[in-house]
Amino acid sequence: MCGIVGYVGARQATLILVNGLRKLEYRGYDSAGVAVWNDGQSRVVRCRGKLAALEEKLIKEPAPGSTGIGHTRWATHGRPSDENAHPHKVGSISVIHNGIIENHLALRQELAAGGSKFTSETDTELFAHLVEREVRKGTTDLTAAVRAALAKVHGAYAFVVMNDKDPSTLVAAKNASPMVVGLGDGENFIASDVTAILSETRKIIFVEEGEIVTVTRDKVTLSDFDGKPRTREPKTITWSATQAEKAGFKHYMLKEIHEQPRSVADTLVGRVDLEKDDVYLDGVELDPKKFKRIIFIACGTSYHASLVGEFIIEALSRIPVEVDLASEWRYRDPIVGPGDLVVAVSQSGETADTMAAVREAKAKGAQVLAISNVLESSIPRLADMAFYTHAGPEIGVASTKAFTTQLIAMALLGVHLGRRSGHLKAPQARELLHELMLLPQKMKDIVDSGAQLQAIARRYGHAKGFLFLGRGAQYPIALEGALKLKEISYIHAEGYAAGEMKHGPIALIDENLPVVVLVPRGPVYDKVVSNLAEVRARQGKVVAIATRGDVDIGGIADEIVMLPDTAVELQPILTVLPLQLLSYYVADFKGTDIDQPRNLAKSVTVE
Ligand code: F6R
Repeated sequence: MCGIVGYVGARQATLILVNGLRKLEYRGYDSAGVAVWNDGQSRVVRCRGKLAALEEKLIKEPAPGSTGIGHTRWATHGRPSDENAHPHKVGSISVIHNGIIENHLALRQELAAGGSKFTSETDTELFAHLVEREVRKGTTDLTAAVRAALAKVHGAYAFVVMNDKDPSTLVAAKNASPMVVGLGDGENFIASDVTAILSETRKIIFVEEGEIVTVTRDKVTLSDFDGKPRTREPKTITWSATQAEKAGFKHYMLKEIHEQPRSVADTLVGRVDLEKDDVYLDGVELDPKKFKRIIFIACGTSYHASLVGEFIIEALSRIPVEVDLASEWRYRDPIVGPGDLVVAVSQSGETADTMAAVREAKAKGAQVLAISNVLESSIPRLADMAFYTHAGPEIGVASTKAFTTQLIAMALLGVHLGRRSGHLKAPQARELLHELMLLPQKMKDIVDSGAQLQAIARRYGHAKGFLFLGRGAQYPIALEGALKLKEISYIHAEGYAAGEMKHGPIALIDENLPVVVLVPRGPVYDKVVSNLAEVRARQGKVVAIATRGDVDIGGIADEIVMLPDTAVELQPILTVLPLQLLSYYVADFKGTDIDQPRNLAKSVTVE
C-alpha cells in the first residue's frame, strides 16, 4: 500500500527520495514526507496530499543532506493528515513504516504508562518510541536498538529507521511486507519496491522475512531478528520500469490476483482473537438486539460480495439479511428505518449510487455501517460506523483482491454477529476462525497453479458465450465469474443459480457452450452434480471447480480444477480464484486491454 525509499550516500537525498516515491505513486497514497539528516539532526517535512504538495512544502522548508528516508502513506490506522504522515520522529529517531502493528493498543498503553507522549494516531509512532527508548537506555548501536524494539511488536511490517546520532547508517526490518536494498557506488538505497530505485541501480538484494538490514554508504549487512548474520548475493534486474511496477507480471490484474493471499492476511491481522473465539472490527461493536434485520447495499462486485455476506451472516447469526443493488434500492422509496442496520459495501468508498443509498438510509433513521477499502473516503465518512478491508490500492479496473478481502470482511462480520446473537457457539467459532487463518496459504496454492487455468482458457477462449453455475454461497461466485469474464474479455457470460437452469438457460446448452460449474463439497453438492449431469447430457462442455479428493466428479466433467477444502462459509474465497484466473487468461488470449477494459472506470462517481 504505502511506499518506502531510503538513501545513504554523497548526493542530495531529498531529490532521490521524492523521485523514488514518484515511481510508487501508482500504488495510491494520501500523504507523503521525508526526513533528511543535516548538521547534527534530521529535518522532517511531511504533509497530507500528493507529492506535489510535499515538493511545495520543501521549497519553503528545504531539507538538504545526504542521508534520508521518504514515505508515501496510504492510511490504515489514523486518518490521512499532516500529523499522521510519516516519518515519525521521537527524540533522535525517525521511522517510516509499511504494514500494520497488530498489538498497537497494548503497546500504546504500555508506552503511555512509561510517560511517552504521542503526536499522532498511528501505530508507526509507537515503534519510533520503542527504538528511542532503547537508545535512551544506552544502546548505541542502532541495529541492536531496532532488534530490541522488534521483539515488542507483532504484525506485518517493513520499517526503516534513522538516528540523528549516527547519520551514516539506516536500519531496516521486514516481516511480511516487501523490502529491497539497491546497491550503488559509494551509495546505497532501500525501497519497498524495486521500481522506486530502478533508475539509480539494477543491483538489488531482496530482503527476506524476519531480516534486519543495516545499510551504510559502502556496506550492507543482513541478519535475522536474533542477530544471526545472513548473506545473499544481489540480483541484477532486467525488467523495464513498467514491468517492475507490475512486479514482473504482465498486467496489474494478474499481479493483484497473486497479491490476494497477502491482502487477505492483512485484512485478518489484529482482528481474530483465537483465545476468546471472537473478532474485532476496528472498534465497531454491533448489538443484534438493537436491529431486526440487515440490509446490504452495493454495486457490481461489491454487490456479489454482499450476496455471499447474506449467506454467511444468516448462517452464523440467524439475523435476516436482505441484499440490494444501490442503484435500484435508492429509487424504490425503500422501507427502512430505525431498527435496521444498513451495510454499504464499496471498495472505493466513492460510488455515487451507494453513497446516495447511504444518504437515503440515514435520512430514514437506519444505522449505517460502511465496509470500504479506502480510509476516509466519502461513504465511510457519511456512515455511522466503518471498518476497512486492507487490500491495498487496486489498480486493475476489474476487482479481484478487493472482492476476496470483502468476503473476509463478511466472515468477520458473521462471526461478530453470530457470537453476539448467541447462535454461534465458541467451538464452532474457533473452528471457523482457525479455517480463516489457514486461507492465505490455500489461496497461494491456487494462484500459484495458474498454468492449468491458462490451458483451459486456451481451449475454450474462442467460445461466443459462457455459463457459470453455482448454488448457495456459490451462486454469487457464479455471478462474479460471469462479470469478470465479460468485463475484460468482452465475451458474453451469464451467472445462474444452478437450480434455475431448467427454468430457462438450459435452452442455451450445446457442444459450443462452456459451462463452469462450482461444485465444492458441501450440503448442496449432490444437487449441483445433478445440474452438471443435465449440462453434460446436452453436450455442454463442463469445467468443474471441485474439492481436492473428490473422486466422483472425474467421470462427469471435461475439465476439473481441484481446490483445497475449507469451511462451507469460506469456500467462495477459494472458488472465485480460478474464475479470476480463467477470465484473465481468456482475455489475455484475446489480447484485450485487461487493466483498462473499454467503457469502464475504476471508480463510478456518477449515476
Ligand atoms: C467489477 C468492478 C465494479 C465495482 C463497482 C462498485 O470488477 O470493479 O463492478 O465493484 O463499480 O465499486 P465500489 O466497490 O468501489 O463501490
